[in-house]
Amino acid sequence: MKTLAGWTPITKIENVPLREGRAVTVGDAEIAIFHLEDRYLTIENKCPHKGGPLCDGIVSGTTVVCPLHGQRFDLETGMPVLASQPGCVATFPTRVENGIVFVNLGGARAAHEEAAA
Ligand code: FES
Repeated sequence: MKTLAGWTPITKIENVPLREGRAVTVGDAEIAIFHLEDRYLTIENKCPHKGGPLCDGIVSGTTVVCPLHGQRFDLETGMPVLASQPGCVATFPTRVENGIVFVNLGGARAAHEEAAA
């Protein structure tokens, strides 16, 4: 696979079905790639509550529900949907090139950084 500077080729787009997530381990990072209607989004795969695998959550709109205890996170920002939820998840820039999903792992942003930007 061709490598773009700073971007890691992760998987073919057909490996992530519509409105589902898939976990991928890249080095020390475990990420979850989600296929929305018109794009792919990537977040860290570990729920900040008790480590639930967010890749297995139900996707609704641009949010995912943790399969363990039901906390919901925005896939675009990593922010919890309810202000009463503790924690947030990092997001990673994601793009598709020639049918391959690429993730920029060095471009991770924590939700609190986005809120301050
Ligand atoms: S581990 Fe995700 S809500 Fe509890």
